[in-house]
Amino acid sequence: QHLAPKMQPLAGIKLMLTAGPTREPLDPVRFLSNHSSGKMGFALAAAAAALGAEVTLVSGPVALATPAGVTRIDVESARQMHQAVMRHIGSQHIFVACAAVADYAPRTVAEQKIKKTDSDTLVIELTKNPDIVAEVAALPGKPFTVGFAAETRDVEKYARDKLSRKGLDMIAANDVSLAGQGFNSDDNALTVFWPAGRAELPLAGKTELARHLMTLIAEKYNETH
Ligand code: CTP
Ligand code: CA
Repeated sequence: QHLAPKMQPLAGIKLMLTAGPTREPLDPVRFLSNHSSGKMGFALAAAAAALGAEVTLVSGPVALATPAGVTRIDVESARQMHQAVMRHIGSQHIFVACAAVADYAPRTVAEQKIKKTDSDTLVIELTKNPDIVAEVAALPGKPFTVGFAAETRDVEKYARDKLSRKGLDMIAANDVSLAGQGFNSDDNALTVFWPAGRAELPLAGKTELARHLMTLIAEKYNETH
């Protein structure tokens, strides 16, 4: 990965990503989570490193190897991911939130394994987790902040709503209702929105798609900095 300087539009840039799912503990042996594989985030970390960035990857539990030249911080819960990001965000130029962060966590974590009872129902109370990307985008001197939106309908409406509500510079949206796209699949297509425009990144393997998206992020970052 020794590209000529022109080919390294992120040389000297510190870029942090989140990737993978989070696990929200219920008791010592159980958690709530989701099907995120982390593939897109890890592919983006590799693409950013290839473009010359100094990359920090904050990752939930995934079965993936760390890309060459990338610094990895492993976390489990959304709260741990939030802490790890906030500890290091001050020095970052670009932040890309690719993780499928659990929106809610069990309000209490039982100290002992929860036992089955005679009742046919069990109620678990949840509390909202911090919104990591929104908090980063609200920081004074915030980094160029990129979010993701996985939607099952009204993709543009919900993505643009997240872009403005969270104060993001860019959002990459995918329609997870389409077959063979998104969460656990190897191929994906994205529509990228920023306040003044949009771009379509056609269906491709996550490695190629990550290269396209990271090149677009570098272009927009360099236009504004
Ligand atoms: N995100 C985050 N912290 C959270 C929840 C989401 O940083 N606690 C980030 C994701 O990494 C993603 C973006 O926010 O970049 C959008 O996530 P998404 O789940 O689509 O948005 P929500 O605001 O949680 O809305 P909803 O789940 O209701 O669609
Ligand atoms: Ca969510």
